[in-house]
Amino acid sequence: MKGLYDNEMKLEFACKSNNEAFARISVAAFASQLDPTIEELADIKTAVSEAVTNCIIHAYDGLEEGTVKVEAKLKDNTIYIEIADTGKGIENIEIAKKPLYTSKPNLERSGMGFTIMESFMDEVIVESIVHLGTKVTMKKSIKKEQTIQKKQEEIVEQNSEKEGEFYDI
Ligand SMILES: Nc1ncnc2c1ncn2[C@@H]1O[C@H](COP(=O)(O)OP(=O)(O)OP(=O)(O)O)[C@@H](O)[C@H]1O
Ligand SMILES: [Mg+2]
Repeated sequence: MKGLYDNEMKLEFACKSNNEAFARISVAAFASQLDPTIEELADIKTAVSEAVTNCIIHAYDGLEEGTVKVEAKLKDNTIYIEIADTGKGIENIEIAKKPLYTSKPNLERSGMGFTIMESFMDEVIVESIVHLGTKVTMKKSIKKEQTIQKKQEEIVEQNSEKEGEFYDI
């Protein structure tokens, strides 16, 4: 495969709530090629879960008719994820993205899905056309080197503290 990305995958599945776990676990397995930390992987899983749940609950109003498409691409240390439905679409994206906004308060939704995606991923773009569907594109860079460097610094710091304790005696 010769292309812009180092690796790519596509999934398409029925909008049934059982498939939320399928999507989340599949993307996590794919993302693990970037060697993320447990926290980074958990962030990706949570964001995918929120986006796919939105397709299942809102796009098709829980009718279990329709499909959800998930695409993931890797380039260097970054994962790009696209989650798309062909459901009812979002009339006002800006309002929909506001924390605590939900169109389904009676279903005990908290209106925090988009806020969670934005806080766990580096970038979230929402595109939608009423009656045609919605596409959420997310991006996250795996900060491998920074994490290793930070851990090394912590170890050095801990060791120097121990040495300090030793000389105090
Ligand atoms: N794929 C989608 N298709 C149609 N409408 C959507 C879609 N995703 C989100 N929305 C709309 O955007 C609103 C906000 O979504 P968000 O995920 O932030 O909150 P929520 O799903 O209502 O609650 P929570 O995610 O906390 O359970 C939804 O209530 C819904 O009206
Ligand atoms: Mg939601």
